[in-house]
Amino acid sequence: MKTVMLGLGVLAAGVLVLAAALVASNRALDDDVASATPAMDHSTMSAAAGTSSKGGLQSFAGITADHATELAKAHEPFPATLPPVPAGDVVKVHMVLKDVTIEIAPGVQYQAWGFEGGAPGPVVHARQGQTVEMTLTNGGAIPHSIDFHAARIAPNEAFVDVMPGKSFTFRFKADDPGVFMYHCGTKPVLAHIANGMYGAIVVDPVPALPKVEREYVLVAGEWYLSNDGVAQPAQLDMNKARAMMPDWTAFNGYAAQYVAHPLTANPGDTVRFYVVDAGPSLTTAFHVVGTIFDTVYPNGDMSPEHVMNGVQTVDVPAGGGAVFEVKIDEPGLYPFVSHAFAHVDLGQVGLLKVGSPKGTMSH
Ligand code: CU
Ligand code: CU
Repeated sequence: MKTVMLGLGVLAAGVLVLAAALVASNRALDDDVASATPAMDHSTMSAAAGTSSKGGLQSFAGITADHATELAKAHEPFPATLPPVPAGDVVKVHMVLKDVTIEIAPGVQYQAWGFEGGAPGPVVHARQGQTVEMTLTNGGAIPHSIDFHAARIAPNEAFVDVMPGKSFTFRFKADDPGVFMYHCGTKPVLAHIANGMYGAIVVDPVPALPKVEREYVLVAGEWYLSNDGVAQPAQLDMNKARAMMPDWTAFNGYAAQYVAHPLTANPGDTVRFYVVDAGPSLTTAFHVVGTIFDTVYPNGDMSPEHVMNGVQTVDVPAGGGAVFEVKIDEPGLYPFVSHAFAHVDLGQVGLLKVGSPKGTMSH
């Protein structure tokens, strides 16, 4: 009986998410969109004094702290804007791995391993032909490493374990343009990625893509929780990671953060999304509600002969990336989602706010 109640709680949370996406796509919102943020109305939790379960595994999906809407607003969103390419021939990147407790949903704490103290790690941006010089300093308690999918390099020499307290530097030439995942490759890799050790590297082609008004980087990820993370921080539940049963999913580490803090564009702008699916295991079916992608570079392959035009949804596989361009003329709130809708329910949803649509939040 309790299970039924809990199931309803989760269902209610899901309906809220769906409502957020659909309402936003159909008309200008009268209320603050954040109030319809997925799974964040505490009323959905009153039924969820415990958890739902499946196959002996407990789900903590949708369970947040009180005042979830306020917490979501107070959360500082991960900066999604693509940073500029550093000048010179060498792009120097130094990350200091830290064991940190981070917030992954409103009031939900998680004990992560953060490449630079957060998850995802910082966006690396280079130009085709530049050399990336990567230094990883391990400030954590166990060995870690870093594997760049943008590199053609012997993994046993570059992607090596760095012991706690040590640093390691390697270089690779960014000869392949695209958007790529980087991640810790220390065994078990499933655990290291699931604990937040991932990020994106964008390698601009030469000659460059056409200039566009907005460029955003979204790293899709999944969180597998040992407890709800509200009363005390959650850790990784390896069994749920193996079963691919996430409690939360996110773009850039925090469930639905760009619902409370929409990405922005002006009417007529072309927006370019660089999407990486860090997984560790599930596919992202990338889609923007209310429009159609003008251009997609599937799997981050920038060769002109592989470009797709006029498509609705394109899968980004775990460990893959793709580049999406969309030009939106009409002001409004356009949700971007993984259209595998369980993921919208779990947090892979955000808003692209084009212009100043009527009746939306003031910020
Ligand atoms: Cu690691
Ligand atoms: Cu990999």
